[in-house]
Amino acid sequence: MPAATSGKGVLADPWPDRFKAFAGRFSVRTKIIGIVLMLTTILGLGITWQVRTAMSTLVESELTVRAETIALEVAVHVANPIAERDTAGVVSILDDAVASHLDSVFAAVSRADGIIIARAFTDGDGTPGATLDEVLARKADEVPGLHAVSVPIEPDAGLLTYGMTDTRLERTVDGVTLQLLLTTLLVGAIGVLAATLLTWLLTRPIVDLVRTTHKVSQGDLSARAAVAAEDEIGTLAEAFNSMVNELETSRAVVAETQQLRTRLLERLIDAQEEERKRIARELHDGVGQSLTSIMLAAGLLEQTEIPDERDEYTARIREASADTLKQVRRLGRELRPSVLDDLGLAAALDRYVAEFRLRCPEITAEVHCHLPDRLSPTIETTLYRVVQEAMTNVARHSGARTVSVLIGLRMGTVRAIVEDNGNGFDPDLKRASGESVGIHGMIERVELLGGRLDIESSDHGTTVYAEVPISVNTAAPT
Ligand SMILES: Nc1ncnc2c1ncn2[C@@H]1O[C@H](COP(=O)(O)OP(=O)(O)OP(=O)(O)O)[C@@H](O)[C@H]1O
Ligand SMILES: [Mg+2]
Repeated sequence: MPAATSGKGVLADPWPDRFKAFAGRFSVRTKIIGIVLMLTTILGLGITWQVRTAMSTLVESELTVRAETIALEVAVHVANPIAERDTAGVVSILDDAVASHLDSVFAAVSRADGIIIARAFTDGDGTPGATLDEVLARKADEVPGLHAVSVPIEPDAGLLTYGMTDTRLERTVDGVTLQLLLTTLLVGAIGVLAATLLTWLLTRPIVDLVRTTHKVSQGDLSARAAVAAEDEIGTLAEAFNSMVNELETSRAVVAETQQLRTRLLERLIDAQEEERKRIARELHDGVGQSLTSIMLAAGLLEQTEIPDERDEYTARIREASADTLKQVRRLGRELRPSVLDDLGLAAALDRYVAEFRLRCPEITAEVHCHLPDRLSPTIETTLYRVVQEAMTNVARHSGARTVSVLIGLRMGTVRAIVEDNGNGFDPDLKRASGESVGIHGMIERVELLGGRLDIESSDHGTTVYAEVPISVNTAAPT
């Protein structure tokens, strides 16, 4: 397989990809202007080249035809003077011909052996030259674009050679070429201007959108893209704006939640400190006092020999010790009921509700726990604390006559319902106030386990629903 991979690697950089990578380096504006400039240049240069080639070909053929026509005409005119051996007459005809026709260079009459017998030059060339070949070679060097045509002089009186140059006509072709090039330049400039205007119209909203995107990515959620038109770009800008709206809303919700959590955390820490103070007070005032009285009674017991007094001090010590034990047990239970670990949620709730009845005899409390197995310690602790808080609220705030607790399994979840028939309250209002640590504590605990907590409340009472998925159904801790 490595061969295939390396083969693929060789092909991995084909021309289209390279071109895309190259084009990707430029902005859309540069690309459009570049394409327009390239097209007008190619079109302009192509047309110029084609027109120039066609004109040059035409000039050459026309010049040859003209030279032939003039040569034939002159050949007819010089036939008589040649027959009469009138060289001056021949030269005069040749002079007239070169003087009266544009683009003429020379005219010459030569014998069959190539010796020139008469000639005329437009430039007054007087350089001697005996043969036609010599003159032709010299003039071809001196005059650019020379076209020479030879025709026979009848009857068998030699050759009439007529030379013409295409210099003037080529200058005209050059002029036309220059005009075409200037037109190309002008069309290119107009094209670039039009492309600039077009790209400005097209890319302005995109550039604006990109700028807004950068602002948003840097955290400025107040930035919005301008919706300039109802075209595709306008739709894109609208979609982007609504996305930022949603982002702003969700950010605000997150910030609010974060703020609420921070406040709750502070209150939780305060509550913890309060609880510690309460335990310290209980230890000092309750357990401490009882132990002091045990110590005092033990001291008195040591000092007395009187049997009645000994009995009294012993009874006092027993009484104070029992009292201390009760206090320590209560404190321990309040901190963490050992029955929860040892016997599970159902037993712990039975015990809790029994104590609740003793504390609040005016409220009829009942608990129904339908759990075939032990749940995970985390779930049991969570539900125990939720029920504890909900029932404490019933006792403190509801004014209810009855409260019932129902625990059961339901489609892979365990559900706890605490229902009272008290005065009710507005849960949303209390939650929004940020003061309700108890309720938020319940919600936090349940949500930490992936569950949810709902509170329904009316004038007829309040119901707290807590639902937690049983992801872990482990045995109880030892
Ligand atoms: N069962 C209920 N019946 C009537 N009102 C209730 C009930 N449960 C809660 N409330 C109201 O909701 C408020 C908030 O309850 P929450 O448990 O969050 O705080 P708290 O009990 O006042 O203080 P703590 O933080 O000590 O629990 C209570 O003050 C009370 O007004
Ligand atoms: Mg409470």
